Amino acid sequence: ERVRIQVPATTANLGPGFDTLGMALELFNIVELQAMPSGVQIEVEGEGAASIPRSESNIVLRVIRKVWQKAGVTPAGLHLRLINHIPVARGLGSSAAALVGGAVAANEMYGNPLTDQEILEIVTEFEGHPDNVAPALFGGIVVSAMVHGEGNNEVISRKIPPPYGMRAVVAIPNFHLSTKQARSVLPTAVPYKDAVFNVSRISMLIMALVHNDWELLAKVMDDRLHQPYRQELIPGMQDVFASAQQAGAFAAVLSGAGPTLIAFARENTEDIAAAMQAAFGRHGVQCQTMDLKPCP
Ligand code: HSE
Repeated sequence: ERVRIQVPATTANLGPGFDTLGMALELFNIVELQAMPSGVQIEVEGEGAASIPRSESNIVLRVIRKVWQKAGVTPAGLHLRLINHIPVARGLGSSAAALVGGAVAANEMYGNPLTDQEILEIVTEFEGHPDNVAPALFGGIVVSAMVHGEGNNEVISRKIPPPYGMRAVVAIPNFHLSTKQARSVLPTAVPYKDAVFNVSRISMLIMALVHNDWELLAKVMDDRLHQPYRQELIPGMQDVFASAQQAGAFAAVLSGAGPTLIAFARENTEDIAAAMQAAFGRHGVQCQTMDLKPCP
């Protein structure tokens, strides 16, 4: 019997919520998993198909084995098929989607022996931080935190429904940026005033999201913990943000670790997409745009 899972793209950070906030988007990868009498077969189609390994080093296969190990089950063989629509290494949560899709499929194949919380903790350990994997698993906007205890790493998370009518316009550059590289430019310490700046913005942003308060949201989606350090990796970042806002977006931020930039709006999404593409173009960056809905 074959299990088929649909798992969404995610945008992490949402400006000030570095490693804390993420939102699921209506752009999906598909994971199909089937137990076989023997052998391991991995098929990959779509985004990343040329570079994703078909061997034991495949992260989806590794997370599937981890789930089965924890559940105490082991099929003799398996057939795994990945149909990818989420661009790879662009800041849209492709690795979180792969991990969550694999873990959920592996669990479902045996009637869901593990809880969502157990799945969340397994995939967070693979990913390193919970801000993409939590919304990939639960949908919506998710606030998450890692709580380090004795001998266990708990992940706590709470979901907020996306504000009514919200659209996300993404401008996806045609170059890759690994999360590893985008984290390597971050400093080891930040000025106290920058930490306070972000604490106030993330707190206000949660209020804005909970109360559907667009005026407030427009004022508090800025950041001093990661975007200023990453802008050197993304030519034209500030110009794209300004152009999106001039075209009617409430706010524009770096999507996850980048290089995708994302603007939030209720209308004028075509104009915003065109403005972002033109601004990137002025800096010599080719990009693809999409107008996405948050995934409820
Ligand atoms: N919060 C992470 C970062 C998301 O910004 O590095 C990307 O994996």
